[in-house]
Amino acid sequence: MSVEGKKRVVTTHALYEMKQRGEKIAMLTVYDYTMARIMDSAGVDVMLVGDSAANVMAGHETTLPITLEQMIYHAQSVVRAVKNPMVVVDMPFGTYQGNSKEAVHSAIRLMKESEADAVKLEGGREVLESVQRILSAGIPVMGHLGLTPQSILKFGTYSVRAKEETEAKRLLEDAHLLEEAGCFAIVLEKIPALLGKRVAEELKIPLIGIGAGQFVDGQVLVTHDMLGLNREFSPRFLRRYANLSESMQKAFKHYVKDVKAGDFPNEKEQY
Ligand code: KIV
Repeated sequence: MSVEGKKRVVTTHALYEMKQRGEKIAMLTVYDYTMARIMDSAGVDVMLVGDSAANVMAGHETTLPITLEQMIYHAQSVVRAVKNPMVVVDMPFGTYQGNSKEAVHSAIRLMKESEADAVKLEGGREVLESVQRILSAGIPVMGHLGLTPQSILKFGTYSVRAKEETEAKRLLEDAHLLEEAGCFAIVLEKIPALLGKRVAEELKIPLIGIGAGQFVDGQVLVTHDMLGLNREFSPRFLRRYANLSESMQKAFKHYVKDVKAGDFPNEKEQY
């Protein structure tokens, strides 16, 4: 459900149909009410309340520290704003990996307390039992393969994944397992474009890429990166659509100057 109690327009079935008719899916991350309202009005199909909130909202180096409570807070803020897009929420590190009963409990909390539409979790065969249990509770699940940031300490690098044949084969098998389990879509992060193409061709469900090339069924970016709020992060796959860090710094400097000079507020700006 969404603002004014209306059902959201973009559903798992709508995404499936988009893939069937070749319409690309536009997904972005979002963590707060104001940004979600603007994004909704721009026609984004899927909003991901990503655990990248740990990085861009809280300043952590990895996504590992964010908690279930913090993800629920971000998801609630987004859901309050949204009319049309589907809202997917990342399950944070430690809430689904160890135990499938705990996984379904975490997913139910996310869904009940935020009223989001679906959850996303990272991994293939190693989290399959959790995926199956969450799905059996009636909760739509989006998978996430390739570079999985919650496992960054294990891999030790953010480099392109599945370049070697064995890793590519494993990824393809995992994608099939997730589809067979009932996932409605899968995010593919930082893999070769031709592997992205192969997965998208072999699977019926939509594949949404971030650094997975042009042949997949949709794209997702971290909003702070595509808006140019975060100048330090510059991977090849990132296209910047604005330079907001510069615009904002300019506005802040202007404000400081006006306050210091006694120019703000002026006569019209007071009671
Ligand atoms: O948390 C996130 O922002 C994500 C995207 C990278 C897909 O999972």
